[in-house]
Amino acid sequence: MVQGKVVVVTGAGGGIGRDLALALARGGAKVVVNDVGSSAAGEGQDAQPAHQVVAEIRAAGGEAVVSSDSVANAAAARRIVECAVDTYGRIDGVVNNAGILRDRMFHRMSVDEWDAVLQVHLYGSYHVSRAAANHFKEQASGAFVHMTSTSGLIGNIGQANYNAAKMGIMALSKSIALDLQKYKVRSNCIAPFAWSRMTSSIPTDTPEQAARVEKFKQMTPAKIAPLAVVLLSDAAADVNAQVFVVRNNEVFLMSQPRPLRSVHRGEGWTPETLASHGLPALKGSFVPMDRSADVFSWDPL
Ligand SMILES: NC(=O)c1ccc[n+]([C@@H]2O[C@H](COP(=O)([O-])OP(=O)(O)OC[C@H]3O[C@@H](n4cnc5c(N)ncnc54)[C@H](O)[C@@H]3O)[C@@H](O)[C@H]2O)c1
Repeated sequence: MVQGKVVVVTGAGGGIGRDLALALARGGAKVVVNDVGSSAAGEGQDAQPAHQVVAEIRAAGGEAVVSSDSVANAAAARRIVECAVDTYGRIDGVVNNAGILRDRMFHRMSVDEWDAVLQVHLYGSYHVSRAAANHFKEQASGAFVHMTSTSGLIGNIGQANYNAAKMGIMALSKSIALDLQKYKVRSNCIAPFAWSRMTSSIPTDTPEQAARVEKFKQMTPAKIAPLAVVLLSDAAADVNAQVFVVRNNEVFLMSQPRPLRSVHRGEGWTPETLASHGLPALKGSFVPMDRSADVFSWDPL
């Protein structure tokens, strides 16, 4: 399905990105394995993980090249895309997968914790997408896949930075899809569930949390790859601006915000009539205070 396509996968030195890079290469794609090799919190640099993935791909007869630049910097992100074009002569797909976590309750979250996560996830997805966009427009083809998260789409505690970035990525993807559809460029999101070092930071302080983590361990990163591969392929030519969830053997199409219910008053509203009439009328449709785990409440299949 992706034979001959040139695809950049960011954060491909480990976790979900690594398995995706391997799957793409098995399918005949030429892969730019981008990774700075940071810790899960985004500290340090190590080119080794990306080199190992490239070595693994080449040992299996596939084509891949290492890129160690950071997605979080505009000039470095341009080099990631240039790496694809310089090495393989073109670029057909971008997977914005690189990510870090700096979890903290909102009232204790520092500017640095906010900024670091936004820089890698939201700015990183913008920088790499923006660098690829002109190539995609010129060749009138190209596909973006962005990793979002149900933590952002639904909610999660202690992750205001990450959740804001991941919701931002959903809007970024829709915007790219709208702006570039006339050039046959597509942009879709996947919210993955997978056991990786990122999810291994989930606290296991209570029996409930520990049980949830045991469930997570069944969900291997390799389970995310098939959907990403098909979204990058011409088989998904009609799939644009969608948000999917993959959780082990389940694939979900997610809703996107639309009006739920309206109230109208001919003479307009005052704060008082909104309190006595408007808000009570809407209350039955209020969205509950749930988190991702409340919505995905059953064991992964
Ligand atoms: N694992 C899950 O259950 C889950 C759930 C929801 C969303 N996601 C998303 O999926 C993506 C992959 O997550 P994962 O679980 O494989 O995590 P991971 O930590 O195993 O992989 C992330 C990779 O990104 C790299 N990276 C970090 N900063 C970078 C930068 N500035 N430039 C280039 N590379 C950088 C890291 O070195 C790491 O190898 C992330 O965007 C994450 O938010 C994962």
